[in-house]
Amino acid sequence: MAIISLVNRKGGVGKSTISINLASGLAIHESRKKNSKPVLLIDMDDQLSATITAMGGGFSEEFVPVITSDNNYPQALENGYGASESLIVDSLIPRKRDQKVKLFRTNKARMEGLEASLKMRDEADFQLTYFLEPIQEDYSYIIIDNPPSAGMLPMNSLVASSHVLIPIEPDGLSLIGLADILRMVENVRRTTNPDLEVLGIVPSRFRMVRRQSQDVIEELERIYGHLLLPYIKDLADISAATTAGYDVFSYCPEKSQAFRCVSNLVDAVLGKLGAV
Ligand SMILES: Nc1ncnc2c1ncn2[C@@H]1O[C@H](COP(=O)(O)OP(=O)(O)OP(=O)(O)O)[C@@H](O)[C@H]1O
Ligand SMILES: [Mg+2]
Repeated sequence: MAIISLVNRKGGVGKSTISINLASGLAIHESRKKNSKPVLLIDMDDQLSATITAMGGGFSEEFVPVITSDNNYPQALENGYGASESLIVDSLIPRKRDQKVKLFRTNKARMEGLEASLKMRDEADFQLTYFLEPIQEDYSYIIIDNPPSAGMLPMNSLVASSHVLIPIEPDGLSLIGLADILRMVENVRRTTNPDLEVLGIVPSRFRMVRRQSQDVIEELERIYGHLLLPYIKDLADISAATTAGYDVFSYCPEKSQAFRCVSNLVDAVLGKLGAV
């Protein structure tokens, strides 16, 4: 069992895209096993992009009941209740498999107030940890998508996680942002969660033609070579799959660049976790 948080305080770097495709890839991997367990995808971002994509995408209406639920995950987290089975639903991804990634019923308005209400609780940083404790062994992997922030919500995720995955868009400022996140991880490790491991850094939305991107990749290799995971190229197919509410594995042909990039990443993650 691994709990993997995707974290970067910078917006638009591919956290949600990688979250849904990693969750799908891991679910596909699990579905080939005999005693498989489901994958749970947790959305800590009040934009709810991972939830909406996993429920059919913004052009479908299928996501509406899952993001307006009266019985919802942010409320349960705020009130310190144990996670209840009634909060968990099947998503639609991976589209081509019967065994779907699981999601919490959530509520957009409630998510918007979550950070403020967690701050009022004792042991504010531990609420997600306590919430997941009774259910985590029911899952093979728990993937946590985070908002573009370094605040209370990603902090809860990091305290609850065994691993952190850091997507970065390789541009001039991303190395500075990366150093900030690694400091945040180090701080969590020192104070609350000594077992937290950096699973890797994923250069995301990578454009080979850009000289600047290549320079950043070279620098990343030099400083963080041992942490660097296969990069995800910037490909129209990847954003089209997300818009359509599909995982890349179901939307793109097996031989496409998009399929290969994402499946290389999933394989590398499985390799690092010692799961293959
Ligand atoms: N590899 C890729 N190729 C092409 N487009 C991509 C890729 N990854 C992400 N995108 C697109 O870039 C936009 C931002 O991606 P995404 O939502 O995954 O980023 P994020 O880090 O989760 O953003 P936020 O911080 O706002 O939550 C989306 O429109 C998405 O479809
Ligand atoms: Mg996002």
